[in-house]
Amino acid sequence: MTALDRRLLSDNTAVGPDGMLAVGGCSIADVAAEYGTPVFIYDEQHLRDRCREAVAAFGQDRVIYATKAFLCRAMARLAYDEGMLLDVASGGELHVAMAAGVPASACTLHGNNKSTAELRQAIAAGVKHVIVDSFDECDRIDALHAAGVGPVPDVVLRITPGVSAHTHEFISTGQNDSKFGFNLANGDADRAVDRARRSASMNLVGVHCHIGSNVFEASSFAKAAEVMADFAVPLDLPELVLGGGLGVAYIEGEEAPTITQWGNVLLDACESLGVRSRVSVEPGRSIAAAAAMTVYTVGTIKDIPGVRTYVSVDGGMSDNPRPVLYGSGYESFLPRCVDDERELTARLVGKHCESGDVLAFAARLPTDLAVGDLLAMPVTGAYGHSMGSNYNKITRPPVVFCADGDARLVVRRESFDDLLATDVFVEG
Ligand code: LLP
Repeated sequence: MTALDRRLLSDNTAVGPDGMLAVGGCSIADVAAEYGTPVFIYDEQHLRDRCREAVAAFGQDRVIYATKAFLCRAMARLAYDEGMLLDVASGGELHVAMAAGVPASACTLHGNNKSTAELRQAIAAGVKHVIVDSFDECDRIDALHAAGVGPVPDVVLRITPGVSAHTHEFISTGQNDSKFGFNLANGDADRAVDRARRSASMNLVGVHCHIGSNVFEASSFAKAAEVMADFAVPLDLPELVLGGGLGVAYIEGEEAPTITQWGNVLLDACESLGVRSRVSVEPGRSIAAAAAMTVYTVGTIKDIPGVRTYVSVDGGMSDNPRPVLYGSGYESFLPRCVDDERELTARLVGKHCESGDVLAFAARLPTDLAVGDLLAMPVTGAYGHSMGSNYNKITRPPVVFCADGDARLVVRRESFDDLLATDVFVEG
C-alpha cells in the first residue's frame, strides 16, 4: 500500500462527488481557485477541537497556546475564545495577540533575551506572567521598577531541568547545555528563587520548564515532571508550568500520544509526586500542526533517467523551512485522488534558487501526476507559516480557515507592494 494514510489529514476532510478532497466542507480546488497557490488551508473545527481537548485535559486557563507555532489575529482569538491563555515569545507576538482583542492579562511573556523595551511593553500592559530566563533579565526588571514602570509583575522562573528530550538537537531545550533558563544542576535555579523572593520588583508565583519540541515519548515528560516536582514542591508556589513539546505524526508510521494522553501522564505524575500547584502547559504544535495542509501547484517536472525525478511546486523553503532545517519528513498527495496509490518516488522541490530548497526528499506521488496539478502537503499547520520568509522576494502565502463549507481568508497573500513596504529608497 502506498496510498496516503488518511489519519495524517485533519479531522474534517471528505472526498466530494467530483473526487476532489474538501476541508471543512470546502473543495480544495475551489479554495485554490479563489486564493491561488501556495495556500495554507486550515480546518478550523480541527483547531477548535484540539483547543477544547487541551482545556478538557488540563482545565480552563491552564493551557497556554504557544503562539510561535502559528499566529495571526484569527488564531489568537480562536485560542482565547476556546479558553486558552497565550504564550508570546516576543514583543511582536504580544502585539499581534493584543491586536486580536486578547487582553494582556491572558498572555505570558517568554524569551531568553527579552529586551528592556519588550519587558516594559509587557509589564506596562499587565501580562499575566513574565517567565524570567536569566539573571540579566532580573537586572532589567529591577531597572524598570526603579524607573517607575509598573505594576510589579508576577514572574515564573524558567528552570533547565537537565532532562534531554528525544528530539532534534535544535529543538531540544531542557538539557544542561542550553541557552534557556536557570540550570538546576549548578545551583542557578536556587539562586534565582532566592533573588526573586527577595526582590521588590517582581512577585515570584511559580516555576517553569520546557524540555523540547516534537517529543513522542511520554516518559520524557514524566521524567521532567519528576525533576520539577522535586524542585517545586518544597517551594510551595502557586504555579507549575511544564511547557509544550508534544509531538505529532508527520509521516506514515509515526505515532504520537494524544493531548488527552499527555494530560493524563503529566497530571498523574504531578499528583503522585505531591504537587499542589496549579499545573499548566504550553502546547503549540499539537494544537496547530495537523489542522492545516499547504496546497501548491505543480510547475515543472524533470526526469533524469537513472538518477531521479524532480517535481517543482510554486512555493518551497520560504513557506516550509522545516525539511531543510531539521530534515523533517512530510507526506504529499494529489487532492483530486487522495486515495490513489503513490508509486512515483520523486524529490519534491520549491522554486527558490538553491538546490537545498527541498520539501520532501523522497515524496511518493501518483504516477499520473502532471504539470498544473494541485499537490497538497498535510500537517503543515505549525512552524510553517510562522517560520516563513521572503527569500527570493517570494510573497508569503495566504491563510484560509475552512469550516462548514465556508472558506474565510484570515491572512491575505503578500503583494509585490508589501515587498516594498519597509524599503526606504531615495532616488538620486
Ligand atoms: N513553550 C516554550 C517555552 C517553547 O519554547 C515552545 C517551543 C513551546 C512551549 C511550544 O512547543 P510545541 O508544543 O510547539 O512543541 N521551529 C521548531 C520548533 C521550535 C519550538 C520552540 N519552542 C520546529 O519547527 O520544529
